[in-house]
Amino acid sequence: MNYERTNETGPVSGESPMVGAVISTDPDFRGRLTEIFATGGEVVVGFDVVEPFTRITDAHLEKLRQVDPDVVFVDLESDPHVGLKFSEFLLESSTARTVVGAGSTDSPEILLRAMEAGVLEFLPKPLDPRKVEGVIERIRRKTGKTANRETPRQLGQLLSVFSPKGGSGATTFAVNLAVAIHQVSRKRTLIVDLDLELGETALLLGKDPRFSSVDLVRNYHRVDEGLLASYIERDESGVELLSAPYQPGDFGTVEGDRIGKILGFLKEQYDYVIVDVPKTLNAVTLHAFEASDRIYLLTTADLQSLRNVTRSLPLLKGLAGGRDDDWIRLVVNRFSPSHPISVSEVEKTLGMKVRWTLRNDYRAVLDSINEGRPAVLEGRSAYAENVRRLAADITGIQTAPKTKSRLFGGLVSALRNGHADRS
Ligand SMILES: Nc1ncnc2c1ncn2[C@@H]1O[C@H](COP(=O)(O)OP(=O)(O)O)[C@@H](O)[C@H]1O
Ligand SMILES: [Mg+2]
Repeated sequence: MNYERTNETGPVSGESPMVGAVISTDPDFRGRLTEIFATGGEVVVGFDVVEPFTRITDAHLEKLRQVDPDVVFVDLESDPHVGLKFSEFLLESSTARTVVGAGSTDSPEILLRAMEAGVLEFLPKPLDPRKVEGVIERIRRKTGKTANRETPRQLGQLLSVFSPKGGSGATTFAVNLAVAIHQVSRKRTLIVDLDLELGETALLLGKDPRFSSVDLVRNYHRVDEGLLASYIERDESGVELLSAPYQPGDFGTVEGDRIGKILGFLKEQYDYVIVDVPKTLNAVTLHAFEASDRIYLLTTADLQSLRNVTRSLPLLKGLAGGRDDDWIRLVVNRFSPSHPISVSEVEKTLGMKVRWTLRNDYRAVLDSINEGRPAVLEGRSAYAENVRRLAADITGIQTAPKTKSRLFGGLVSALRNGHADRS
């Protein structure tokens, strides 16, 4: 069995960070591990599988092999017996080099079975960060992998969402996009709500935040990672939020360029920063655009919205500087094929290509607002699918095909063929 990584192009062993993968249906467990990886553990999250063991597909396994994690954390809580068979399969097929199990059981039978399966350690749930860090440290010593902090961190991408007409769905889109990006990439993702009058991102996540972007801007001179963390709210979905103030606030005498510096600082801390830019154009919004790697310009296909977009386009284009035309990406929201104004008419009116359409999906969007749970967390509405596709485009990570799960069939036959079945 070959446990060596054959990575010709990557950094030599000893200089590369440790890569982890997580298999769990439990969002709290995944969120907590991601957090420990990012802070105490200094582990790069390679891939998460969120499906129950019986729904894990060959595509998931293929992705796992590509990511080639140093350690796979397997949440055994829901089904310890199948989970342990699966762990054994991962190890014996070299899909994983190390498996760490977790669960709330203290049954000696399960622990013994875990040992037999080759599971390196067993962590009790809920996870104790120090225990997880201890496990990571032991694996690190074994593999000779360095902590992530020793490799220079790449700057994150800052994506602004903007619609010049209120009620077009910009905030809904910003929140769903952030959650979808995090779902596919498991990278650190932050939503920044710059709408000081009507900031609604917290509402869409069902959150009641204590601090806001105003606090961050006011205290900018002493902002470091610690203070930033105290202003940030963590959602169960895994995304983090720098909310708008509950009561309309203002940035007072804050010069616009301060927001540019803050956004630059946030890009150092996060892989993706999604900014909900309000429709009021002022120094803060203009600096937010300038700091953006991409602007998603959202419109609905009606005359009033298109007219507002036409009016704001010269200003946005004026901020583009040397950036290419692709900097501003037009998204038509509340799209339906039977809509009286077609996509090509929108393109003709605005003189630019429509890059994406998001389906009009009243029910899904309304339900998600009422429940404080973004639509992309709930099943397969047309809107959620559209946003997911966009997130895949941004992250470069394609979501698993939606064809019916072939795997457990595949896995079961692998087990039967003697890979793992000892019973
Ligand atoms: N694709 C969509 N289909 C149906 N309703 C939508 C869609 N996108 C947004 N909405 C609804 O439009 C309203 C305005 O959305 P919001 O995100 O607050 O817009 P904005 O931030 O542009 O003012 C909300 O009631 C939201 O539910
Ligand atoms: Mg809004």
